[in-house]
Amino acid sequence: MEAILLVGGRGTRLRPLTISTPKPLLPTAGVSFLSHQLARAHEAGVERIVFATSYRAEMFEAAFGTKAHGLELVYVSEDQPLGTGGAIRNAARALTCDPDDPVLILNGDILSGHDVRAQVALHEETSAAVTLHLTRVDDPSRFGCVPTDDSGRVTAFLEKTSHPVTDQINAGCYVFRRSTIDTIPEDEVVSVERETFPTLISSGARVMGHVESEYWLDVGTPEAFVRGSCDLVLGRLASPAMPGEPGERLVLPGAAVAPGAIVRGGTTVGRGATVEAGSTVVGSVLLDDAFVAEGATVRDSVLSRGARVGPGAVLDGVILGDGAVVGPGNELRGGLRIWPGIELPPTAVRFSTDA
Ligand code: GDD
Ligand code: MG
Repeated sequence: MEAILLVGGRGTRLRPLTISTPKPLLPTAGVSFLSHQLARAHEAGVERIVFATSYRAEMFEAAFGTKAHGLELVYVSEDQPLGTGGAIRNAARALTCDPDDPVLILNGDILSGHDVRAQVALHEETSAAVTLHLTRVDDPSRFGCVPTDDSGRVTAFLEKTSHPVTDQINAGCYVFRRSTIDTIPEDEVVSVERETFPTLISSGARVMGHVESEYWLDVGTPEAFVRGSCDLVLGRLASPAMPGEPGERLVLPGAAVAPGAIVRGGTTVGRGATVEAGSTVVGSVLLDDAFVAEGATVRDSVLSRGARVGPGAVLDGVILGDGAVVGPGNELRGGLRIWPGIELPPTAVRFSTDA
């Protein structure tokens, strides 16, 4: 089976992490986020993937080349972002399958443990035009809300509505009949969620929902990105791309964790990163060359490449950009983001290591 992977978004909600690296390439549990998706797609029977790229397009081929995780990889870039539907149509130029064959379409920011083979089987059994993976969430207003009838047929598609009619949402993994992709207008900006799906449904095409509530996460926000990385390290979602066994922490080669430092909750410690004695790092992502000084506490946070946390500082739910420095004794909480290279001076009451 062939697949199209949508990876052209700007990842705005994940800034400053996505200033230099597109969201799908962010290091997640020790490897690029996409490695987990690619490895799982291969397990599900996909053999060839067309990347639909736009933002920082050249970085994808540089990262994965033409073969990775047992897959043949092809890249199709948009000069201007064409939206999700336009991107699918544009990337379909590189498909080799027949008009009636199923094509898997994947949003490039999803961790999912659902059974792709069962989704494809439903698609084939019902001769559907499109079959969507649907899951249930607490707040459907942030997603595509997708009601179905008793037979599992999709009756409407309401993208990010403030009045959701069900907690069932679009999980960002579709099986399209190849010929249905060809009905999307060419070389135009098209949203598959706001245009293609509603049009197909109202024109009477068979659109099916495969409802499954296995592990599922869209890593598009900082909180979700940290959680996804930690869940992979903890083994809550099995990934063939994980560089190590599941456990409380993943310490990559070349990292230094001092005896007496507490590192747990699915934390990743990147290459060349240092965690000094007497510090605590819980449920966090430390990228390469990050540094946590003695007596510091880091929780639910991301330290980008070369970011530094001074002695006794406290970070809770914070994103540090590349090379950002938090001086000794600072306490940062609740969604704060520090841009690359910014240095916060020590607090007035300086943490002292000599006392
Ligand atoms: N090539 C290309 N071109 N890719 C794009 C473009 C584009 O113009 N715009 C977005 N993408 C890619 C993004 O990179 C991402 O992988 C995917 O399309 C979805 O975009 P997001 O920006 O992550 O959308 P969302 O999370 O707000 O909503 C989507 O996903 C939800 C599930 O996580 C929608 O499909 C919702 O209906 C769905 O519930
Ligand atoms: Mg998303």
